[in-house]
Amino acid sequence: LRTSGLVAAAMTGGAVAGTAGVSLHRNGSGSAPSAAAAGYRGSVGFFGPHQAGIIDQAPAHLRFIAFDLGESTLAEGRTALATLMRRLSQAAAQMTAGRWIPEQGSVASGLLPAGLSVTFGFGPRLVRAAGVAVPPALAPLPSFPTDELVPSRSGGDLAVQVCAEDELLAVSVARALGRIVGPAGRARWTQNGFLPGAAAPPASPPAASPATGTGTGAGTGTATATPRNLMGQLDGTDNPNGARRDLAVWVGADTGPDWMVGGSYLVCRRIRMLLDVWDRTSVPTKEAVIGRRLDSGAPLTGGSEHSTPSFSASGADGRPVIAADAHLRLTHPANNGGATMLRRGYSYDDGLRGDGAPDAGLFFQAFQTDPREVFVPIQRKLAARDALERFIRHESSALFAVPPGAEEGGWVGQRLLG
Ligand code: HEM
Repeated sequence: LRTSGLVAAAMTGGAVAGTAGVSLHRNGSGSAPSAAAAGYRGSVGFFGPHQAGIIDQAPAHLRFIAFDLGESTLAEGRTALATLMRRLSQAAAQMTAGRWIPEQGSVASGLLPAGLSVTFGFGPRLVRAAGVAVPPALAPLPSFPTDELVPSRSGGDLAVQVCAEDELLAVSVARALGRIVGPAGRARWTQNGFLPGAAAPPASPPAASPATGTGTGAGTGTATATPRNLMGQLDGTDNPNGARRDLAVWVGADTGPDWMVGGSYLVCRRIRMLLDVWDRTSVPTKEAVIGRRLDSGAPLTGGSEHSTPSFSASGADGRPVIAADAHLRLTHPANNGGATMLRRGYSYDDGLRGDGAPDAGLFFQAFQTDPREVFVPIQRKLAARDALERFIRHESSALFAVPPGAEEGGWVGQRLLG
């Protein structure tokens, strides 16, 4: 078990002291937070059987970088890759523990740890360079009929996901790690992201949520409010929890390969929202598109946010209450042979496009044991008939193998490269 401030906070349901003395869980209870401390959390740690930044509650800011490794690094293989991952892990462990790296200047030193997590993922070229077979689950995703992917924003050899409650910190940590990658590679693409901050009112009071918690970063054991995305929807309601989540996320010894046991596969999609069109759409249509109410997130078949939807219920007109093309119907595990993923996406807003439309949407991130059995079949259905497709454009795509966590003093990727 990761012994971190955040988990401890989750288990006690209250605030704990972080390593830098900033202590409040974003949805923590207990003593009233000072304005300066509101929204800040302690350390989520670095070492443990699984990497951080997957099942812990997603902090408000994301900085994601996908690097291309240089040909010479790839040609050198394991030795060069092991050195790189050792250095990156050491720096990440130090910063997540609340200690800034002196050689990076003092820009963000006072902001740590602020819920900082760093997560590493490997693309197929890195795995091949290590001299082992690329696991079938890391095979390139197929193209989907509605894809409008930009290659320079897709793929990559090494992914670094930095999450924190402070944006300056997230950006600075990403830069510090980027400098360590330094001569070994160069950033191919980056994506920033955000979630509602500490001031966001819960749509459903945490007390009304299941004790195991839900939400984009579900799984800390605390009851958290589900965040809203830029379309105004509660996004993350039906994320799995507890044992169901663990089965959906962590690669098991039965499937392997050995170096991935305790790891996960991360699908990233930069999905632009046609917000101008969405804003001109009526509330009943918006609700029909998903199959849930906009205000409460309740299924259109009734109840509250976490009520079970009924896919067989029909209205007075004889039509299904949750439409045949509703996002909820198409994605729900019950309609996909049980296929389950953990979504941990972030909103993004990159200003305006050349045509004046908002360049904003959802940086979709989903962790799962095998995308061929989860993301791919579900996205095939969505591309073919999701009512939401009219309002979105998939602009980038990447798939990374996220190896298990490092043991104390070890480094991420050790079982592959060590
Ligand atoms: C559920 C929005 C893309 C898979 C939902 C819900 C919303 C939503 C509002 C209902 C609340 C919830 O359970 O979270 C969006 C938006 C998208 C998007 C705005 C694009 C901009 C995708 C994609 C996939 C996906 C690409 C996978 C291929 C799911 C799944 C659920 C879900 C698995 C949970 C279904 C359930 O268990 O009830 N999404 N989604 N979504 N979405 Fe999406």
